[in-house]
Amino acid sequence: MSTEQDMTSFAFTPENLETAKKIIAKYPAGRQQSAVMPLLDLAQRQVGWTSIAVIEYIAEMLEMAPIRVQEVVTFYTMYNQKPVGQYHVQVCTNICCLLRGSDGVGETVKELLGVEWGETTADGKFTLAEVECLGACVNAPMMQINDDYYEDLTPESTKAVLEALKRGETPAPGPQGGRQFSAPEGGPTTLGDLTFGPEKA
Ligand code: FES
Repeated sequence: MSTEQDMTSFAFTPENLETAKKIIAKYPAGRQQSAVMPLLDLAQRQVGWTSIAVIEYIAEMLEMAPIRVQEVVTFYTMYNQKPVGQYHVQVCTNICCLLRGSDGVGETVKELLGVEWGETTADGKFTLAEVECLGACVNAPMMQINDDYYEDLTPESTKAVLEALKRGETPAPGPQGGRQFSAPEGGPTTLGDLTFGPEKA
């Protein structure tokens, strides 16, 4: 991911161009415009965000008006409308996460990174975003960092995840409080003798 993209031009790498052609080929003739979302995602994975140059490139590829591509970009928060850091930290502050302590998660991230919502650290490593429900309410509170979800967060575990990233490590995603996946905290309450989980496979 690069935050140094030339904002005036964009083209898929040869490898991504092949991937784009395969994505477009999944749709019936005349329906190629349905590929707009995966192509925007592919472009964002290449350069980190969906600039006007990206929008125009994909619009031309799919024979769409650029404004229609831009409508997609501005509707979904998964598309970054400006460059983000190496780690895009998205903290959910929606109702389930709020009730389970997302205030503490957000404050911990702000304090540790020295940024407010929407800001990127001076070294370009971390961008902090406040987001709506990311669909992991069962393990609230949570934050998404790039493609990984970190769940059941406390201020302490939030700090541990960020400090590991700062050290160049990749902390294990998923629940940070010891529960297995989205099983009840403390273990199963029905099928009590159930054994499951990676360590028991
Ligand atoms: S409310 Fe935070 S993941 Fe749903």
